[in-house]
Amino acid sequence: MTQPHPQAFPPRFTWGVATSSYQIEGAAHEDGRSPSIWDTFCAAPGKVKGGDNGDVACDHYHRLDGDLDLIASLGVNAYRFSVAWPRILPGGRGAVNRAGLDFYSRLVDGLLARGITPWLTLYHWDLPQVLQDAGGWPARDTALAFGEYAAIVAAELGDRVGHFITINEPWVAAYLGHGAGVHAPGHTDLAESFAASHHLLLAHGLGVRAVRAAAPGAQVGITLNLAAAYPATDREADHAAAHRQDGFANRWYLDPVFGRGYPQDTVKLLGNASPQAQELVRPGDLDIIGTPSDFLGVNMYSRSVVETAPGEGWLGVRQLRPEGSEYTGFDWEVAPQSLSDLMLRLQRDYTPRAIYITENGATYPDTVSEDGTVHDEARTRYFQQHLAALEVALAGGAKVSGYFAWSLMDNFEWAEGYDKRFGIVHVDFDTQARTLKQSGRWYRDFLTRAQQGQ
Ligand code: NOJ
Repeated sequence: MTQPHPQAFPPRFTWGVATSSYQIEGAAHEDGRSPSIWDTFCAAPGKVKGGDNGDVACDHYHRLDGDLDLIASLGVNAYRFSVAWPRILPGGRGAVNRAGLDFYSRLVDGLLARGITPWLTLYHWDLPQVLQDAGGWPARDTALAFGEYAAIVAAELGDRVGHFITINEPWVAAYLGHGAGVHAPGHTDLAESFAASHHLLLAHGLGVRAVRAAAPGAQVGITLNLAAAYPATDREADHAAAHRQDGFANRWYLDPVFGRGYPQDTVKLLGNASPQAQELVRPGDLDIIGTPSDFLGVNMYSRSVVETAPGEGWLGVRQLRPEGSEYTGFDWEVAPQSLSDLMLRLQRDYTPRAIYITENGATYPDTVSEDGTVHDEARTRYFQQHLAALEVALAGGAKVSGYFAWSLMDNFEWAEGYDKRFGIVHVDFDTQARTLKQSGRWYRDFLTRAQQGQ
């Protein structure tokens, strides 16, 4: 078994755990929060497994102090969380809800008091429903509204928060929400999903500018979900399929964020569904999207292995499930080497100022044993393998400055409800009891050694 070496990581490496607002907070109808698209989606029959929703989730909103102590007990030096837009601006834009801001202000103060650096994500999918009613991400106005919201949060918290992530996983928000329809708002229209992608990217660029203006010393970047794409065979046609997959899932976001505009091969494949063909890309948009940022956030869970499949959808690609590999509870292939490949490729092709792995983790069906612990060996192994792969990337010259485990605790896993557990802390959703899993113990011990420089 490959083991990572704590001493291989630079002394000032960022070590954290991550969560998001809708997945943990609960208190969905309290202190002036308005509904988000996820409240609406969860209420629609058959959309979320078990009919689950985020009304209570981990009840984090009411258990803030205990959860802050829990985070501190892990020995992390950073915590990534997200702000719920509908708590700050219940009308989507306009009047600010003080009670909503106060919650995050207490959260930030609590982190700082414990010596933990806050990493604030502005958008982790809980769009105010009122903005959805006005057109949502397929409408340009939503990007402008995001710019206003980003300015407000940065002005209020930027005196204490030095790291802002604009948008979390725009591919997921755009494609799973508007193309595949498995996430809120649950639409299935390819052109609409690419309209949404353009406005999410525009929102990122406007967000970078708004954060810079309101909190001049802060670092700001975007978090993309990236998965290296490999051809199933050495056949030319499969290599081409992997390139198309890479265009759809990775380059569509990387290229414009790094100031290169949209990848032309993907634009061509999309035909009428491209934002260009829909005449949504206005002069100046690509400059806004390409506003230089301070870091690239990467969420990495797996890789994709593809073969060519002419005529199968607009992309002509079929995803394979390689035999002989290990799979997580989501049926995602455990592919740690793809993490090194991805980091080295990002370094080579895009030279970001810094890369942070803002999520990495795995779901397995955990149970609390009679001895009161959760023996999640597979998850522990997953972290070990991925940190060892990260070590390889660092040695190869990738400028990775931090790593956040997903997640601090089991939580609301979107369309899968509470059925899929990603935490390094187990949550009993009946009692809200938190139990550190074996993976959490391992992570804590590893970080302690890494931060002692041993
Ligand atoms: C990425 C998302 O940002 C997060 O919300 C989700 O829980 C994890 N992936 C696991 O699917």
